[in-house]
Amino acid sequence: MNLLENLAQSGPLLRGAASRGNFRVLRSMLGPAFRGLVQQRGRHESRTQMALGYSALFDWQYRRTEPQLARLYEAAKASQWNATQDLDWSVSVDPEDTDRPIVPDSFMPIAKYPGYQRLDAREKARQRHLVLAWMLSQFLHGEQGALFAACQVTEAVPWLDAKLYGSTQVVDEGRHVETFHRYLTEKLEKLYEINDNLYVIIDALMSDARWDLKFLGMQIMIEGLALGAFGHLRQHTQEPLLRKLLTYVITDEARHVHYGVLAVQKFYETELNERERREREDWAFEVSLLLRDRFLAHEYYEEQWAHAMSRAEWDRYMLESESMALFRNTMFKRIVPNLKRIGLLSERVRPRYDAAGLLQYEDGRAAPELTAQDLIEDR
Ligand SMILES: [Fe+2]
Ligand SMILES: [Fe+2]
Repeated sequence: MNLLENLAQSGPLLRGAASRGNFRVLRSMLGPAFRGLVQQRGRHESRTQMALGYSALFDWQYRRTEPQLARLYEAAKASQWNATQDLDWSVSVDPEDTDRPIVPDSFMPIAKYPGYQRLDAREKARQRHLVLAWMLSQFLHGEQGALFAACQVTEAVPWLDAKLYGSTQVVDEGRHVETFHRYLTEKLEKLYEINDNLYVIIDALMSDARWDLKFLGMQIMIEGLALGAFGHLRQHTQEPLLRKLLTYVITDEARHVHYGVLAVQKFYETELNERERREREDWAFEVSLLLRDRFLAHEYYEEQWAHAMSRAEWDRYMLESESMALFRNTMFKRIVPNLKRIGLLSERVRPRYDAAGLLQYEDGRAAPELTAQDLIEDR
């Protein structure tokens, strides 16, 4: 059943890309979509092996040519934190506290669903707990992807300053995996499997041979999604340990997106021809649509609500909910100005972004103009 539903669900994505003439994007996505949506590897395997086909690049001259990246590297070394010492893990967290909810009802995408509204206070608290666990589980899986992507781009990027910076990101992402995993296991005691669509995107950028696409997909788009999600959650929770750890993580992620924008911008300005640039443009647009429409908590739905409503009904509640609208807003506020900055919002694709409701974000500030504090406070 899942398999059929997933196939049907991937229909609009594939049809959409085909009707827009994005055949190259389609081709690069077919393998990942098959492994993610049909085989559901991230859910049916306890370990997934991915064959990678990119090239590492050694630099024997060690020239320091990129002062902005060098500054970012210095900032990263000065901002390291230790999750075991700098966070107070002794605080007790009751994720089902009915008096002090770990996230408010307004955070729940199904807050308006009558079946949810009918639940008693204890059951609502349990559902809030599960939704939070679903979200943090996706953060954890995304962080594992970010850890590997950071390793890959560190090897592949051509400039020494970018490699040095990348080495700090590897440590950052390792710490994020550690932190989210610990919070999930010690405080929430619940871990969900990876969302199929998150798997597709991670698989696509891990297995692609083009290093700049890894930067584009991970550093700019998924990290943009993550910054949006972390900011959204931090605004909604009063749980002090979670707020503190999100503050630390957001500060790191701010550097990562900045790094992605600097590296990709330089590469696109100096080394890409027009056809290659258009390919990236199409890819970024299709991934934007995936991010907009496809993170619908199906793993939580299947466990808790599949008996009560169809998946189509669920999707409608999710897509129309205020909480999701807020989340999409924070996310695209972080992504679209960066796409513009790196030159992927040309006249050719602007109408598509406009039709998808995403062009309204284009005049926001790109990563180089944002401080960590801006991101923490969601400015
Ligand atoms: Fe991270
Ligand atoms: Fe990151």
